[in-house]
Amino acid sequence: MIELKSPAEVERMAVTGQFVGELLAELGAATAVGVNLMDLEHLARRRIKERGAESCYWDYSPSFGRGPFRHVLCLSVNDAVLHGLPHDYVLRDGDLLSIDMAVTIDGWAADSALSVIAGTPDPADQKLIEATEVALVAGIGAAQAGGHLGDISAAIGEVAGRYGYGVNGEFGGHGIGRTMHEAPHVANSGRPRRGMRLEPGLTLAIEPWFCRGTDKIRTDEDGWTIRSADGSRTAHSEHTVAITEAGPRVLTGRDRGEQSPATRSTLADQR
Ligand code: MF3
Ligand code: CO
Repeated sequence: MIELKSPAEVERMAVTGQFVGELLAELGAATAVGVNLMDLEHLARRRIKERGAESCYWDYSPSFGRGPFRHVLCLSVNDAVLHGLPHDYVLRDGDLLSIDMAVTIDGWAADSALSVIAGTPDPADQKLIEATEVALVAGIGAAQAGGHLGDISAAIGEVAGRYGYGVNGEFGGHGIGRTMHEAPHVANSGRPRRGMRLEPGLTLAIEPWFCRGTDKIRTDEDGWTIRSADGSRTAHSEHTVAITEAGPRVLTGRDRGEQSPATRSTLADQR
C-alpha cells in the first residue's frame, strides 16, 4: 500500500531531509586521501546522536543483506556501489567513494547518497559521477503530479544511455516515509507513461547508480557489499523527493554541494 503524505507530513520529512543533506555535505567535504572510512562512520554516528535522530540502517535486516546491518553509513569504494560496509580502510589518491545514509527524526525518514573522489580524479570517474547526478536531476524533473512512475525511470535511463552506461534492474529507488523502504519500487530505466500515476503527497527516494563497464553486479563475501561484476568503478546519487501540487520538492538538498562542479556546468550548458 502506498501512503500519500499530507503537506504537514511532507514538512516533517523535510526536517529530516535537511539534516541528512547537511550531514552528507559534511561527510563529502571530509572525504580526502588519508581518511579512514571508520572516521566517516564515527562522525556520522556522533552527528546522528547529537541531533536525536535514529539511523534506518542500524539493525536493518533486509532480504538483500546478511543482516543485521551494524553501521549508520553505506560506504562503497571504487567497484563497490551499494551497501558497502564501513571498515578499516584508508582512502587513497583517486578513490571514488559513494556515501549513502538514511535516518528518521520524530518518526519520519529521509534517504540520500552522493559520490565523491578523494584526491586526484580520473576524468572517466568524474564523467560517471556526473551521469548519476544529471540522471538524478532528470528523474526529479519527471516527478510531476499527473505523470507516471515510468516517466521518472525513463528519464533516468535516458541519461544513462546518453552517457553510454547500462542500467541494472535489481536495485533502484523506492517509496519512503515513516520507514526508509516503502512501495513503490522506482526502477532506473523504464518506459514513459507507464506505471502508477504520480500524485501530490507521494514521497520517493530516487537513486540512479551506474557502473563504468557493465550493468551486472555481484555481492561481496561479506554478504552486503554490491560491486560491479567486472570490477569497473561505480557511482550513486540519491535524493528524497516529494511530489507536490507545485512540482517536485527535493527534501534532502545540499545547496551548492548538490552536484559536483563538473555537473553544475553541464547542467548549466543544457539550459
Ligand atoms: N539507503 C539504501 C537505499 O538507498 C539502503 C541501505 S540498506 C542497508 O535504498 F541495510 F544497507 F543499510
Ligand atoms: Co534509498
